[in-house]
Amino acid sequence: MGRKLLLEHAQVEGIHTYEVYRKHGGYRSVEKALKTMTPDEVVEEVKKSGLRGRGGAGFPTGMKWSFLAKPEGVPRYLLCNADESEPGTFKDRYLMEKIPHLLIEGMITSSYALGANTSYIYIRGEYAWIVFVLERAIKEAYANGWLGKNILGTGYNLDLYVNCGAGAYICGEETALIESLEGKRGNPRIKPPFPAVKGLWQSPTVVNNVETIAAVVPIVNDGGDEYAKIGIGKSTGTKLISASGNINRPGVYEIELNVPVEEFIYSDQYCGGIKNGKRLKACVPGGSSVPILPHYLVCKTANGEDRLMTYESLADGGFASGSMLGSGGFIVYDEDQCIVRNTWNFSRFYAHESCGQCSPCREGTGWMEKVLHRLEHGHGKMSDIDLLADVAKKIEGNTICPLGDAAAWPVSAAIRHFREEFEWHVNEPVASQQRNYGLVKEPTAAV
Ligand SMILES: Cc1cc2nc3c(=O)[nH]c(=O)nc-3n(C[C@H](O)[C@H](O)[C@H](O)COP(=O)(O)O)c2cc1C
Repeated sequence: MGRKLLLEHAQVEGIHTYEVYRKHGGYRSVEKALKTMTPDEVVEEVKKSGLRGRGGAGFPTGMKWSFLAKPEGVPRYLLCNADESEPGTFKDRYLMEKIPHLLIEGMITSSYALGANTSYIYIRGEYAWIVFVLERAIKEAYANGWLGKNILGTGYNLDLYVNCGAGAYICGEETALIESLEGKRGNPRIKPPFPAVKGLWQSPTVVNNVETIAAVVPIVNDGGDEYAKIGIGKSTGTKLISASGNINRPGVYEIELNVPVEEFIYSDQYCGGIKNGKRLKACVPGGSSVPILPHYLVCKTANGEDRLMTYESLADGGFASGSMLGSGGFIVYDEDQCIVRNTWNFSRFYAHESCGQCSPCREGTGWMEKVLHRLEHGHGKMSDIDLLADVAKKIEGNTICPLGDAAAWPVSAAIRHFREEFEWHVNEPVASQQRNYGLVKEPTAAV
């Protein structure tokens, strides 16, 4: 089992309380940062760590922080993105529920680094009970002098608030989140200006994922160099993976960013293999937005190399034969699952969640859902498959925010790798409802 930097104490009784969290070394990073480091030195450690944003895009956190504009007399904000609405992703929920003080500690240390005196945790509406968990922990942090005025006598002030969303996936997009926090409809903004220059209330703002902010704690405690020793290449540190689907041991796992995918799926330390002794059919490794991989590309790349749980290895082969680590929502499909049905299911989600601002996304997600509905329900035509691929292509890259891409990629990838299954739905519409799908054949020509 690899090192655990975030979930080491997750199973300790009472770790959600201040007392127990503190007993296990909690809030050391705040003491170290505020008493012995300048804000720039904290940013430097985060840069050295190689930490990449855990919200999905994997952008280097230290670099993002160094882009933050610092005009005189203008407040800066740190916003924690706890909207976590991507199907297949539930790691932030686990972290916040189990160890709320870890996120609060990360918020204080990160806010100090960025020179923010007011920070927010924006949490999805469906996580209503976690709002109470966080608010209780924040109250404890204020009572023990970690929040408020003159923290640890250093002169640094910070107020931290929890803001509850209303259950819209789009509010996880950082500029929609900012709009929503300002009390407006959560429509993504046109960029530039980027939030680092004009974000919340038109002030410089950093938006980071829950896990990214929590990772700042071990980085400051042990140093960026130590953190960077874990993992491979530009995939440093540990990553929380939400594992679900047809596996024996679904759950949230903290892995070092170097574990082979095969080990992650079959080892008893992690997913424990495919349920009921079935065969692996496909895998969506990074949440519903990323391309699905057929069984022959899950554990090996198209070049026959072992696929690793890293940003680079999961993307190896580009969209032709690779996927993405994304938000770490690892969904496993066994041989009985229907890829058309799964793609339709994802499409329903995106059609429902499109904010409607950009025509390609507003119209396209609806069309894809309709075409997939008729294919899945036995009313599809052969030409629908190419129509679907064409609609997906026309959404991709043509919207203000990446929700359009997120909706299009799973559809394009499903057709790319599982076209024969779409064809079955047209040729044998009735039988297809009860079909034992099995595995698609690996193409003999180079992929
Ligand atoms: C439609 C949509 C939904 C998103 N949802 C989330 C989310 O729930 N949590 C998250 O951290 N990032 C989400 N993102 C990515 C954010 O826009 C942003 O990149 C991220 O919060 C940055 O944090 P990081 O650098 O720590 O990863 C979403 C993006 C899009 C386009």
